[in-house]
Amino acid sequence: MEFVVALSFAFLMFPFPSAIGALSENYYDGKCPLNESIITNAVKKATSNDKTVPSALLRMHFHDCFIRGCDGSVLLDSKGKNKAEKDGEPNRPLHAFDVIDNAKKMLEVECPGVVSCADILAMAAKDAVVLTGGPYWEVPNGRKDGRISLASDTGRLPTPGFNISQLKWSFGQNGLSHFDLVALTGGHTLGFSHCSSFQNRIQNFNATHEMDPTLNPSFASKLRRLCAAHNKVRNAGAPLDSTNFKFDNAYYKLLLKGKSLLSSDQALLTDPKTKALVSKFAWSQRAFEKAFAKSMTKMSSLTGGEEIRRDCRVVN
Ligand code: HEM
Ligand SMILES: *[C@@H]1O[C@H](CO)[C@@H](O)[C@H](O)[C@H]1NC(C)=O
Ligand SMILES: *[C@@H]1O[C@H](CO)[C@@H](O)[C@H](O)[C@H]1NC(C)=O
Ligand SMILES: *[C@@H]1O[C@H](CO)[C@@H](O)[C@H](O)[C@H]1NC(C)=O
Repeated sequence: MEFVVALSFAFLMFPFPSAIGALSENYYDGKCPLNESIITNAVKKATSNDKTVPSALLRMHFHDCFIRGCDGSVLLDSKGKNKAEKDGEPNRPLHAFDVIDNAKKMLEVECPGVVSCADILAMAAKDAVVLTGGPYWEVPNGRKDGRISLASDTGRLPTPGFNISQLKWSFGQNGLSHFDLVALTGGHTLGFSHCSSFQNRIQNFNATHEMDPTLNPSFASKLRRLCAAHNKVRNAGAPLDSTNFKFDNAYYKLLLKGKSLLSSDQALLTDPKTKALVSKFAWSQRAFEKAFAKSMTKMSSLTGGEEIRRDCRVVN
């Protein structure tokens, strides 16, 4: 009895998502003629006005999936006393929510009440990758939208200070392997990081080193100047890779040269197995693309919700 209580208590405390094989590439066949180009065009249009949109959508999908599964919980707005995921600290840089809103509005005209916000976000993340030159894959659909979104749940996301064992644990909790960890972190080929996310590596690193000695010294000095000069600027930061609007394998090449931003990126080199994968993806763009598409499909199959939201920002 005590054992059962302890087990269900553990489940309540850590309702991590689980992979369910109910998703299908033909999910919308017969339900509505899903016009995927509505989503693709919404992503394209937004990107033509703001080139940071693809990276924002990719990270948004990742953060959605790691909290209660890919159930669109990251899309819900805070309401009354309920502070939603998007207002949790790690999600503060998220933006481009309007892209999902726009696609949803158009899809509601074509197929009212049929296409979940979680599916729209999964497809938009794939479009973001394709649009920046990355691989294409078929997104299995049929996700349901969740009704719960709590800022406090963002504590389940991996943090940039995580070491390799913590990263493996975090991905493992979501049914993802060390292979998925290395492949998906390649998402850092796109986008930007605020100084606060890597400040630990360039200032007061530890008792013997002011800067992280695994960083390339001139790269570290550059980051220091960048962050010091703009200390008072709220948005000071650096691109996650030198070609951060192009989906390529430069992230891995730079990582091997000590030119990654986050401690969690560097941590991928501290285990022989994950390091070998970094080298493989640095060597072969094709191997990276194949792995990324495969691991994205796996991550985006973590499901959780229960309804088809009418408005992605509020529960029905
Ligand atoms: C392995 C664990 C991971 C950690 C600790 C991590 C952490 C971070 C941090 C700290 C930032 C910078 C946020 C900021 O300062 O504004 C960031 C950015 C980003 N991350 Fe990750 N991340 C991880 C994995 C992933 C994965 C799996 C993906 C997607 C598949 C991803 C996609 C992105 C993207 C695209 C950005 C840039 C966002 C933008 O420019 O708007 N990350 N990540
Ligand atoms: C699909 O949506 C796009 C963009 O809104 C539109 O141009 C196109 O005509 C639509 N196609 C069909 C078959 O409805
Ligand atoms: C990672 O960090 C945790 C928590 O601080 C620690 O217990 C563990 O030994 C560390 N693992 C490695 C490989 O450094
Ligand atoms: C500081 O970090 C470096 C590199 O990780 C390490 O070799 C050194 O022992 C650390 N010093 C202390 C005092 O922890």
